[in-house]
Amino acid sequence: MSLAAKELLRCPVCAGGWRTSDGVGRSLVCSAGHRFDAARQGYINFLTGRGTRFRPDTAEMVAARERFLAAGHYAAVAAAVADAAAPALTDDGRIGAALDAGAGTGYYLAALLSRAPGARAVALDLSRHALGRAAKLAGTTAVVWDLWRPLPLPDGAVDAVLDVFAPRNFPEFARALRQDGVACVVTPQADHLAALRDVLPMLDVPPGKADDVERSAGAHFDRVEVRSVRFGLELDPEAAADLALMGPAGHHVTRADLLSRLPHGPLQAEGAVDVTVLRRR
Ligand SMILES: C[S@@+](CC[C@H](N)C(=O)[O-])C[C@H]1O[C@@H](n2cnc3c(N)ncnc32)[C@H](O)[C@@H]1O
Ligand SMILES: [Zn+2]
Repeated sequence: MSLAAKELLRCPVCAGGWRTSDGVGRSLVCSAGHRFDAARQGYINFLTGRGTRFRPDTAEMVAARERFLAAGHYAAVAAAVADAAAPALTDDGRIGAALDAGAGTGYYLAALLSRAPGARAVALDLSRHALGRAAKLAGTTAVVWDLWRPLPLPDGAVDAVLDVFAPRNFPEFARALRQDGVACVVTPQADHLAALRDVLPMLDVPPGKADDVERSAGAHFDRVEVRSVRFGLELDPEAAADLALMGPAGHHVTRADLLSRLPHGPLQAEGAVDVTVLRRR
């Protein structure tokens, strides 16, 4: 695990800075004495004792997400996100910092960091299972946190925020970003994976539209551009099951159920997302 990014964090209880680590880089103690220890899997849980009304992804859902993404089905989205956000981390010779909000396994963050050597990052998510993966990324501190609470980052700490199919807390994204920093938000277009919705009735198409993004970001951000990314997918039944299971359906159905409903041959579909690039005023 990495506490390399600890100066990108502040105490979630009192917003103070960190007094010390325990010398082996496995805990954070703030100036008021609030202490957070890293889990064996490398993430730090800042939500200790608070509970949350959300239901985090299970280990099986995370494994499905990791397999599906590792197979490259969304590689075009990762490339677009990295293209859009990398300049904010590398311009003017800086070695920048990023926040991935709702990072999941850190797939998109990994794409960004590969274009910004030495950059540091914070990955926030509710899912401990997902963050166990994200915590392995170089320079990254993975923190269990609820995006609807004040974020545990100091003002102006990061150069770029990624939000890929995750909740969007724009006032807090703006606060955590430096002036002129960039937020890169991915939302599905109306016809994203449309051909799969009949065969995968519980397919998760995360809600959101580029228009809504601009409207809700407007108080803090200027729109730079909206990039439409369209790409073909060919999914064998196992990959199609992973796609369904990595979303909320993973709480309700089993892989065996899904496979029994799917046709045997490959499924074709088109992915269609918007990558909205916003600049903090
Ligand atoms: C559709 S997934 C996207 C994950 C990742 N960005 C990706 O595309 O692979 C949504 C993610 O948001 C996380 N999430 C949902 N609500 C959240 C909240 N209130 N605070 C933090 N994370 C949240 C989920 O745990 C999940 O990992
Ligand atoms: Zn504190």
